[in-house]
Amino acid sequence: MIRKITILSLTVMIFASMFTVPAFASNGSGTQAVQQQKKMVNIAHRGASGHAPENTMAAFEKAFEMKADYIEIDVQMTKDGELIAIHDTTVNRTTNGTGSVGGYTLEEIQQLDAGSWFGQEFAGEQIPTFEEVIDTYRGKIGLLIELKSPELYPGVEEKVAEALMERNMHKPNNEKIIIQSFNHASVQQSKALLQNIPHGVLAGTSWANVTDEQLAQFTTFADFFNPNMSIVTDELVDRVHIAGMKIYPYTVRTQEQANNLFERNVDGIITDFPEYVYRHPVKN
Ligand code: G3P
Ligand code: CA
Repeated sequence: MIRKITILSLTVMIFASMFTVPAFASNGSGTQAVQQQKKMVNIAHRGASGHAPENTMAAFEKAFEMKADYIEIDVQMTKDGELIAIHDTTVNRTTNGTGSVGGYTLEEIQQLDAGSWFGQEFAGEQIPTFEEVIDTYRGKIGLLIELKSPELYPGVEEKVAEALMERNMHKPNNEKIIIQSFNHASVQQSKALLQNIPHGVLAGTSWANVTDEQLAQFTTFADFFNPNMSIVTDELVDRVHIAGMKIYPYTVRTQEQANNLFERNVDGIITDFPEYVYRHPVKN
């Protein structure tokens, strides 16, 4: 009997250790204490955008080289209905052009220089198409696809769904794909089109007091509640988990911010600097 219990206990311990990695966390006195911590999912925000111009192939390639788990991509649509990767709804900040994204055709928008603003070594980087990004990275790195300002682009949910379905990526199997948006109606619409793909609701600071009822409502179409990191508390993380969702806060830009989230037991971190996420849980 004792032998059976011992074997059972050992089996449970080995199984549990498969899902945790040793972590080195500050114990408050400046020294480092070892604890068990689950693997933190590392999401490169707009690519590794601390190192290369956001939402360009250079930034996505850097994230891949840095072995992030996912690249986050902001998807919008051109005047001629092509899906492209860009964050702002104008091209002013991240290219040498001016005007709204939706005022350009694909051919026109790809004439713009999307790299020089970040550094001369990136001069000539183009705004990539969504299809180019998914064709390059499918199966190599996860894709966290944000429908950015979808209210400006009627039909964008269908276009994204078509692009994924044409490639048989709507049943991801081993391919890691998540779709998210601040526009929760758009998330709901996308989930109806792509029922096998996990979806996430993005939550800005106005969701600091999200209720359990609202979280329960989100679970009818979402698997992730991804908030601004400034509203993350232990209590919020617990309530999201109890509701049955995962939580990937955004956007970490310092090691201190990453360390704070590690201690909050979040499931993943959306960051411009993937190295901050790897630095904490893995002993260098
Ligand atoms: O993935 C979350 C994050 O990208 C949301 O904020 O403004 O950078 O798209 P934003
Ligand atoms: Ca985004």
